Amino acid sequence: MICVMDQVFHISTEKYSYLLRINRHGLPEHLHFGAPIQMEDHLALACKPGLGWGGSIILDEKDPASCPDIMPLEFSGNGRGDYRESSIEIDGKAVDFRFVSSRIFKGIPPMTQGLPQAKDGEETLEIVLEQPGSRLKLYYTAFDTVLTRRAVLENTGDAPLQLHKLMSFCVDIFGDFEMTSFHGNWIAEMRPHKQAVTGGRVVNESSTGFSSFRHQPGFLLSEPCATEEFGQVYGFNLVYSGNHYSSCQQSFQGLTRVMMGINPSNFVKVLEPGDVFETPEAVLTWSDWGFNGVSSNFHRFINHHIVPEYWRFKERPVLFNSWEGCMFNFTHSRLVDLAKRAKKLGCELFVLDDGWFGKRDNDLAGLGDYNVNMKKLPYGLKGLADKINELGMQFGLWFEPEAVNPDSDLYRTHPDWALTDDHPDLCGRHELLLDLTKPEVRDYIVENVSRVLDSANISYVKWDMNRHSIALGAKAHDYILGLYDVLGRIFVPRPHILLESCSSGGNRFDLGMLCYSPQVWCSDDTDPIERLTIQGGLSYLYPQSTFGAHVSAAPHAQTLRATPLTTRGNVSFFGCLGYELDLKHLLGVEEKEVIAQAAFYKAHRMAFQFGDFRRVNSRGGVCWQVTGENVTLAGLFHKLESAAPGYEKLRLVGLDQQKRYHVISRAQKLRIGVFGNLVKHIAPVDVDPNGALLRTVDHHVMLDDSAEELTASGAALHSGVMLHNRFAGTGYDKQQRTQGDFGSNVYVVTEAE
Ligand code: GLA
Repeated sequence: MICVMDQVFHISTEKYSYLLRINRHGLPEHLHFGAPIQMEDHLALACKPGLGWGGSIILDEKDPASCPDIMPLEFSGNGRGDYRESSIEIDGKAVDFRFVSSRIFKGIPPMTQGLPQAKDGEETLEIVLEQPGSRLKLYYTAFDTVLTRRAVLENTGDAPLQLHKLMSFCVDIFGDFEMTSFHGNWIAEMRPHKQAVTGGRVVNESSTGFSSFRHQPGFLLSEPCATEEFGQVYGFNLVYSGNHYSSCQQSFQGLTRVMMGINPSNFVKVLEPGDVFETPEAVLTWSDWGFNGVSSNFHRFINHHIVPEYWRFKERPVLFNSWEGCMFNFTHSRLVDLAKRAKKLGCELFVLDDGWFGKRDNDLAGLGDYNVNMKKLPYGLKGLADKINELGMQFGLWFEPEAVNPDSDLYRTHPDWALTDDHPDLCGRHELLLDLTKPEVRDYIVENVSRVLDSANISYVKWDMNRHSIALGAKAHDYILGLYDVLGRIFVPRPHILLESCSSGGNRFDLGMLCYSPQVWCSDDTDPIERLTIQGGLSYLYPQSTFGAHVSAAPHAQTLRATPLTTRGNVSFFGCLGYELDLKHLLGVEEKEVIAQAAFYKAHRMAFQFGDFRRVNSRGGVCWQVTGENVTLAGLFHKLESAAPGYEKLRLVGLDQQKRYHVISRAQKLRIGVFGNLVKHIAPVDVDPNGALLRTVDHHVMLDDSAEELTASGAALHSGVMLHNRFAGTGYDKQQRTQGDFGSNVYVVTEAE
């Protein structure tokens, strides 16, 4: 709900209040963002600057406190008394916008320049500010758990304006905060990084042209005492896939200025008289239930208002992807053989990855061409898709439409379609990007991808992009607008196609892409121990339904780490489960485990994909919990084992304290081979640890891992129930978790009868 009283604006939902006013100088002043309060609180919440501070530039000689530098503002000017970082730069000149009018809209006014935006907002507040020659509109839209903000600048003068910086929002929040941002690289995405926000500016930005895995756009600001479960935390994100910029800085008066928008570095837009420029939408949320509270607000918002409507709360299929198993080396019959195996294991969607078109036998050639490789696929895509459909599976296909290899027919025909600058071309993974600012290039992509999609029964597309930077300057923004245009033209008319975006894994995991693709391939790293960091990091900002999580072979291609198949499955459950390995080499015992995993996941799929996700503090392990309609599932994961580990409890949060719950662990087995010469302690005969006997037994027989089964109240589960002990060097026992390094369990919690 949005209420107005004497130029005080109150945006409120059950979860939060956001309060601002127009002060007597015509500047929009921030009063509150946090717990739901009443409109009447505005005077109590306003800053009381008294006679102000010395060393100030003042707006009114009669009022020594009329200094913009000490005001908590909703958007800054530039060079007119507010010397904190400015949220706007025009023509290198002073900027001084003052209030003109306000309006409240039902719903959300649509974007007009091709940027994606959240859907189904309740109400929107428009604040109009002006200075000679330009008008600035600030938009605030209320969603139940978040607020979105954006800005629109209009040239109302008669000369062109050069816009160098326009943030989506700026706000000054009182308090001491720590900023948690997420940084990384290829196969190492989403490493959390926490730092105190003090007088020096703390910046999180990307400059590759994309949101990038180097610096994820979403970030958090928390009170220093905040934990996963308690304390005030703010969350911010941007509905945008290009260069982003966020900064936080605390003023001497204790106001923390936060802003977020398109990165101003190398950015310039010329606005002719009458032109407007609109920023991407920023998302702001607050919770006093710690980091989990903010995550839950983001998750709810994304599942309800960001992902395409067709896919909201729609179960995602268990998929098999050909990449790690086959790379470029496949034939029709090899794929059909894999599909038969995948079907038997429980997969529902078969995805053919890279290598199906042009001269694509490695990553040196072929990108840009769309002719099916008839040597590999003599029956064409239709022949393959029909065969996969006959097996009872859906068929999906990989594309990398934005890129072109210099060794391709497309490049030879249209070298000028590649995005270049005035210097010799630099390739990344042997590729250049196509210039998506050119309409003819966009048409080429739309026509060719659409033609392929309509040529066979294709239910899923993996849209990849493996070049990590584009030309700098304003072109970067226009490129992203071109990308949104292409995605909209291809996929809006084909809503049933499940689009999974990918950029060498998580190089473009952002809310802009999620407006088109309900899920993102979050990392080429499928090692489950690395995934604890990657999926765990993503969980702060994005719901499980948005990340693809695959089980692959071990030792892992990315880390050389060998992990148990159970743990690979257990980690992947907390996302959209898939398998990506050569199934031909699975042992019988492994097939049984995969069949059990897929069946277990499907039985609890709604909870795993859309349930309320929480990170739970756990002694010595990583604990994730999802709560669906009738079930809570908890994963408890260990990294390196220590000698004689102590007791361990399973803690669960958010259950009804009074009710009683039944807890059982998913049944798991242990491979005998991993025990090597230790088998002698339980075997009746002498067994050679390197011999054929142990190998044979290992391929056919498994040991039972300890099974947990208990009943407890929600209160007891909140404080933690004791689990069977872990292996402590004293022998094998069914009442003990004998897992070693990288062991894990998943617990199923239901209300006791
Ligand atoms: C990228 C993707 C992978 C795979 C390859 C194919 O690296 O991230 O998942 O699709 O391209 O070339």
